[in-house]
Amino acid sequence: GLARHYKFSVVMKNTTKLCASKPIVTVNGKFPGPTLYAREDDTVLVQVVNHVSYNVTIHWHGVRQLRTCWSDGPAYITQCPIRPGQSYVYNFTLTGQRGTLLWHAHITWLRSTLHGAIVILPKRGVPYPFPKPSKEKIIILGEWWKADTELVISQSVQSGLPPNISDAHTINGHPGPFPSCSSQGYTLHVESGKTYLLRIVNAAVNDELFFKIAGHNLTVVEVDASYTKPFSIDTIFIAPGQTTNVLLAAHQSGGTYLMAISPFMDTIVGVDNLTATGIMQYSGTHVSTATVRASIPAINATSVEFSFINSLQSLNSKRYPANVPLAIDHSLLFTMSVGVNPCSTCVNGSKLVAALNNVSFVMPSTDILEAHYHKIRGVYTDNFPGNPPMTFNYTGTPPSNMQTMNGTRVYKLAYNSTVQIVLQGTSIIAPENHPTHLHGFNFFAVGKGLGNYDPNKDPKNFNLVDPVERNTIGVPTGGWTAIRFRADNPGVWFLHCHLEVHTTWGLKMVFIVEDGDGPSESLLPPPSDLPKC
Ligand code: C2O
Repeated sequence: GLARHYKFSVVMKNTTKLCASKPIVTVNGKFPGPTLYAREDDTVLVQVVNHVSYNVTIHWHGVRQLRTCWSDGPAYITQCPIRPGQSYVYNFTLTGQRGTLLWHAHITWLRSTLHGAIVILPKRGVPYPFPKPSKEKIIILGEWWKADTELVISQSVQSGLPPNISDAHTINGHPGPFPSCSSQGYTLHVESGKTYLLRIVNAAVNDELFFKIAGHNLTVVEVDASYTKPFSIDTIFIAPGQTTNVLLAAHQSGGTYLMAISPFMDTIVGVDNLTATGIMQYSGTHVSTATVRASIPAINATSVEFSFINSLQSLNSKRYPANVPLAIDHSLLFTMSVGVNPCSTCVNGSKLVAALNNVSFVMPSTDILEAHYHKIRGVYTDNFPGNPPMTFNYTGTPPSNMQTMNGTRVYKLAYNSTVQIVLQGTSIIAPENHPTHLHGFNFFAVGKGLGNYDPNKDPKNFNLVDPVERNTIGVPTGGWTAIRFRADNPGVWFLHCHLEVHTTWGLKMVFIVEDGDGPSESLLPPPSDLPKC
């Protein structure tokens, strides 16, 4: 592969949306940020230079980072932050992946404005496993706050109360439409008879989204940089951190068609429930033409979510086989919960916390990867529980003695061991859908169900042939999801809910994958410019 060099200057940029201006943190002054283009097998070197007063890190969400955990990016997990005035070169090779991913800041809530797409094209001379589109377009979905998002989250942490919800959703940076603020929304220009590949990225902070275009079905061909068996559907469901590539055939002769994103949340209110719309406009069509409308899914349209998710299967072709682990070395069950703990300085004397297996993760002040590599003691403990501390009816009435524990706990995996994790949603405080992201791996989503996972019955229904391969997966409200992967990537790997509010509350944990014995089975040494804590 080639070496691709990028420079990301992190700079403030005064930005006006919804009739209000604020300075935002950007890469190179752009919102959404620049797209990173490469081919499979290329090596990408991104020099990130921090010109703002915040500490910064960038995460390459979904990039495997084989042996290059030092370039993964989550603050205090794999590196110390890049301080104001400092720079760091992220250096990684794109191995075994092709499609769309995203990059985003991985510290506090900076990712609300610090994000962009990663496009990984197939190796030169290798075609897509679907008809070649005439054109490709990137569609980045986001959330916009009129207030400074760093203030929104720090006030929430201090008070123990939930953070303020966003003021709008955005399509490629356009909230829309807000005619009173002269914002018309995003326009996708198309020509009749052509087919477009839309690379859709959900970069929202806290909202899972539906995406649709009136009068046009979408053919899904890829999610999270893994090919899928193509299927046609009218509404896409996409969680924060997920990416979906679809073919859009511009089969109408002309006209304008509504493009809409709306949030999905099946139990709780307290999300930005505004629909953002844009326009798909055929060339030669006047803007004044009446736009064909679409029916927007209800906020709790679980059936729309499920019909999308249930259609996903990995392509599992000869060239792109699905190597699902069949024998399992580590069989883990993680409960996911949101609860309250006492807090004497908080407004109500309590604060919201979130936990996996009843442990709310505490961020260390030295990154775990350096502690692991240099054998520094006292940074973490390796006693993260592989199973819930007590069994109970997870989706029923929770026990009353469930006060959440705090800890910087990790779970260790031997190199190349096989892992199954059942992510079990619970109804402690509030049942919610948790889009869960694992760094450093693609995993197979082998099963899901409602209610409590039954280890005797449910595995019989697992799909071990062509389960979808992802890096971020929803755990249904009042239900569970099972994933499998092979721990073939040495290093320190974060697992967390990709609703940033839940991450902030502690819904996160860390795997350490030990080095193997072979010469190419161990973590490479840290780069010399690795930021210091
Ligand atoms: Cu996209 Cu750990 O995050």
